[in-house]
Amino acid sequence: MSTPLISVENLCVEIKTNRGLLQAIRGVSFDIDSGDSIGIVGESGSGKSITLKAVLGLLPNNAHVSSGKIYFAGQDIAKLEKKARRALLSETAGMIFQDAIAALNPVITIGNQIAEVPRYRLGQSASQSRQTALKLIEQVGISDAESRFDLYPHQLSGGLRQRVAIAIALSASPKILFCDEPTTALDVTIQAQVLRLLLELRRNSGLGIVFVTHDLAVVNEICDEIKVMYAGRFVESGTVDSTFNNPTHPYTYSLLKAAPDPDASVHRLFSISGEAPNLSEPVVGCPFAPRCFAGDTHCLTSEPELLKIAHSESACFKSKDHDKWAASDSKSGVK
Ligand SMILES: Nc1ncnc2c1ncn2[C@@H]1O[C@H](COP(=O)(O)OP(=O)(O)OP(=O)(O)O)[C@@H](O)[C@H]1O
Ligand code: SF4
Ligand SMILES: [Mg+2]
Repeated sequence: MSTPLISVENLCVEIKTNRGLLQAIRGVSFDIDSGDSIGIVGESGSGKSITLKAVLGLLPNNAHVSSGKIYFAGQDIAKLEKKARRALLSETAGMIFQDAIAALNPVITIGNQIAEVPRYRLGQSASQSRQTALKLIEQVGISDAESRFDLYPHQLSGGLRQRVAIAIALSASPKILFCDEPTTALDVTIQAQVLRLLLELRRNSGLGIVFVTHDLAVVNEICDEIKVMYAGRFVESGTVDSTFNNPTHPYTYSLLKAAPDPDASVHRLFSISGEAPNLSEPVVGCPFAPRCFAGDTHCLTSEPELLKIAHSESACFKSKDHDKWAASDSKSGVK
């Protein structure tokens, strides 16, 4: 088997907060390669963004990787010098965030922002980097690249700004694009255009995509695999088809049940009653137990590991009984 482009092994991240030391990420593992598309879903605060930031070396100052390994192209990035690490990161992975306007520099034209990495990091001449930027502007579907090159971010609509953010992320020719809710702030039409663009990039240039979202419909549309995050861990992982049709963890089941009409264009995941645990205190038992409709006293004694079952991986003592508890669910925590 070939080495995956990015491999994350048992990643743990701690964050210093005024409530104490938060065990924000508690053993996350995944591999991603060219052309793969992984959706990461879970409620607010489950650790999706911190996972991405840890992988890309963008953690805030009060957070650090406390254990685990991150390999880029088979190399343990913790063992590389800062310069080599930065070069490997930028040639392997790019990132786009939800709020494109915050990610763009308001006083530099969009063309020059897109040309920056080719010019100053990839060593292209001024005219080469301009050509690269013009190509990227076209590639992300912005028409009339020559005249748009000299516009400032505030002169573009939200959808075009998000395209510029994607062009900047692609400017170092990354093989994997990490997307943290890149379409949440956009209206439905623009969201559909941005998703189509990502699908095209994946199809045409083999771009791998890790897509963080609250929106199950988006995962269904652009991802092959899904990872469901709860309390700093993946609690279910599998193909989108099998997980959507046959969830093996009660949390996934509840998320799917809480999602509105499958034909609606936006599905938000905020309606499971109760709250996720406070991760500045030790986790005892299954962290989903207080909200779970399928648990029993055994679930309060130890935390289930993510283990392989028939078509997926699930961190639930009762995942093998998923047909039974799904059928008998009449009093789930879903409002
Ligand atoms: N800079 C920070 N300082 C303190 N705590 C933080 C910081 N960033 C994140 N956290 C905490 O780490 C945990 C995971 O946060 P994270 O941003 O990864 O959540 P998320 O799953 O991305 O949520 P959302 O869906 O709201 O974006 C949360 O408890 C959050 O409050
Ligand atoms: S281990 Fe128990 S409490 Fe946790 S999700 Fe499974 S059934 Fe529910
Ligand atoms: Mg987030």
